[in-house]
Amino acid sequence: MIRVRVPATTANLGPGFDCLGMALKLYNTVEMQQIPAGLAIEIQGSGAADIPRDEDNIVYQAALAVFERVNYKTTGLQIKLINQIPVCRGLGSSAAAIVGGIVAANILSGSKLNTNELLDLANKIEGHPDNVAPALTGGIAVSATDRGRVHTIKLPPPPALKTVVAVPNFQLSTKKARAVLPKQVSIQDAVFNTGRVALLVAALCQGDLDKLSCATEDKLHQNYRAALIPGMEKVFKAANAAGAKGVVLSGAGPTLLAFAANNFDAIAKAMQAAFQENGIVAEMLLLEPSLAGAEVVN
Ligand code: HSE
Repeated sequence: MIRVRVPATTANLGPGFDCLGMALKLYNTVEMQQIPAGLAIEIQGSGAADIPRDEDNIVYQAALAVFERVNYKTTGLQIKLINQIPVCRGLGSSAAAIVGGIVAANILSGSKLNTNELLDLANKIEGHPDNVAPALTGGIAVSATDRGRVHTIKLPPPPALKTVVAVPNFQLSTKKARAVLPKQVSIQDAVFNTGRVALLVAALCQGDLDKLSCATEDKLHQNYRAALIPGMEKVFKAANAAGAKGVVLSGAGPTLLAFAANNFDAIAKAMQAAFQENGIVAEMLLLEPSLAGAEVVN
């Protein structure tokens, strides 16, 4: 039996829409083994009540994509999912499912694909690389796609950096959160983001967390999505006032994430209270970046 552990991820990091992501120490585990016939899927933890247990299951779909690519025939498959990552909240649950499925299936079928090939396949299934890259490699992943091939560079997160994460008690599909984005943006907004994403990568490389306040600002997606998340601006303000280094929408939301090096409790309480004032109950998590990506565990 193969057991693979995959981290949660926060994508975009503010201005890095579809290109930046960071792995977090919250994990889903995928167990996979061949059985004589059929498909048996067991699910524990997040999403156990809703995630499909048939051919529509995304872990199974991802595994099939690997088997087809390497021309491997299975008799049947048993999959067990032990999930910590909240589903449809902007913390990379679908990326973790895809990456867990392809990594486990690759091992099961003789490890024919290398890391780059696995990433290209995961990106093809997910549609953008910013969650699947750090889910696979760990750390902070800077990615760009060129004709289907993902170029990614893993950066180690600054040692002092932690994240205070507010997970609202409602789901928001990435499809819905992408549908509210404009088809075109102004050159001013593009320049606003280009400068900040460059500054953000440089600040993360040098551990200059005081630059994050400016470097995590965004004009490509967050403002448009604010209407889908009651109280978003107030939570941003509350986190900043309590000492956050920067605050972002995690992936497509609805989770909001504050970068911090201290004041963790105060930031968490402030974010939770601001959400509460807008009628949203949020679970608060303090998560460290995960240097490890998907890996086989005992
Ligand atoms: N970059 C993606 C988005 C991440 O913001 O839509 C969510 O899948």
